[in-house]
Amino acid sequence: MIPPVLILFSSFLCHVAIAGRTCPKPDDLPFARVVPLKTSYAPGEEIVYSCQPGYVSRGGIRRFTCPLTGLWPINTLRCTPRVCPFAGILENGTVRYTTFEYPNTISFSCNTGFYLKGANSAQCTKEGEWSQELPVCAPTTCPPPPIPKFAKLSVYQPLSGNNSLYRGKAVFECLPQHAMFGNDTVTCTEHGNWTELPECKEVKCPFPSRPDNGFVNYPAKQVLYYKDKATYGCHDTYALDGPEEAECGKFGKWSAQPSCKASCKLSVKRATVIYEGERVNIQDKFKNGMLHGQKISFFCKNKEKKCSYTEDAQCVDGIIQIPKCFKEHSSFAFWKTEASDVKPC
Ligand SMILES: *[C@@H]1O[C@H](CO)[C@@H](O)[C@H](O)[C@H]1NC(C)=O
Ligand SMILES: *[C@@H]1O[C@H](CO)[C@@H](O)[C@H](O)[C@H]1NC(C)=O
Ligand SMILES: *[C@@H]1O[C@H](CO)[C@@H](O)[C@H](O)[C@H]1NC(C)=O
Ligand SMILES: *[C@@H]1O[C@H](CO)[C@@H](O)[C@H](O)[C@H]1NC(C)=O
Repeated sequence: MIPPVLILFSSFLCHVAIAGRTCPKPDDLPFARVVPLKTSYAPGEEIVYSCQPGYVSRGGIRRFTCPLTGLWPINTLRCTPRVCPFAGILENGTVRYTTFEYPNTISFSCNTGFYLKGANSAQCTKEGEWSQELPVCAPTTCPPPPIPKFAKLSVYQPLSGNNSLYRGKAVFECLPQHAMFGNDTVTCTEHGNWTELPECKEVKCPFPSRPDNGFVNYPAKQVLYYKDKATYGCHDTYALDGPEEAECGKFGKWSAQPSCKASCKLSVKRATVIYEGERVNIQDKFKNGMLHGQKISFFCKNKEKKCSYTEDAQCVDGIIQIPKCFKEHSSFAFWKTEASDVKPC
């Protein structure tokens, strides 16, 4: 039997221990937890520190017993996040990450011309594994392009089966009598579709009109279409103002409507003039007159300075203005010097 005094005494000791030497709430350790967690512990009570899910410590768990001193021993537990396997390389793409540790997320993207086959992000789980299988970047392809109405493919070289790779091209051509609106070339885009298709439309042109004092030739057909050609000419002494050939354009109009312009009769009988950079005798070079559009330079005298200069004249639809400064000498006035023989000013 225990003497009652001893019981009293030991309950007193116990009281002292409980009242004066309890352990406080244990220190917080990053990413660790304490079981049981309380605000105070009696001497002899045990606590267990362990790492939170997703974190590990090299030494495993730590057990501590509240000592009679009421001071927890120094705790060296270090919980560090689990690290998922290296995932830093995605062929033809990019992995964005800070670290591969729990609970971080990494994200994936592919270079232009490739698409993500799989998830676009993954998280490092508590178990130290990626939440998603790592994706791959697969090359973007376009199915064969649709062929617009009234068109045919003129260039198409699929590279991957029947499909085209990103940036692949196809070129269309319109059927005869049809004009293209839009770009003849389509390109396989990064979205796996083609850039905008062109349109082919039938285009008719009216019969070209005959120029006055001239003629026009064109194909002997019921209807004239896109790219048909008309050729023009003029009766003699008339000159064509415009190109000899016109084409039926994509908007149903002829590329040109040339006309015939009259040639000029020259009132000057004798003179040396400049034509296309050369001195010529007007009476030889232009005995049949000047054609519309032709241009010559006349020589004139500067009496004070006793020198010569030139002035231009052009035949415009039958009319030429002879420069006022030009003086034609009669062939009998042989003692007079022609302006063209005087030194230039
Ligand atoms: C895609 O990746 C492969 C393998 O690394 C490489 O040979 C190829 O050049 C890459 N393609 C592009 C367009 O970057
Ligand atoms: C390509 O297309 C042809 C005709 O449509 C088809 O017979 C062939 O199987 C296709 N080839 C591939 C690799 O898909
Ligand atoms: C047609 O498209 C190609 C590329 O797709 C481009 O290089 C070209 O300049 C375009 N042509 C016209 C006339 O817009
Ligand atoms: C191609 O696809 C993209 C994305 O879906 C879309 O924005 C674009 O308008 C498409 N282009 C054509 C020419 O259809």
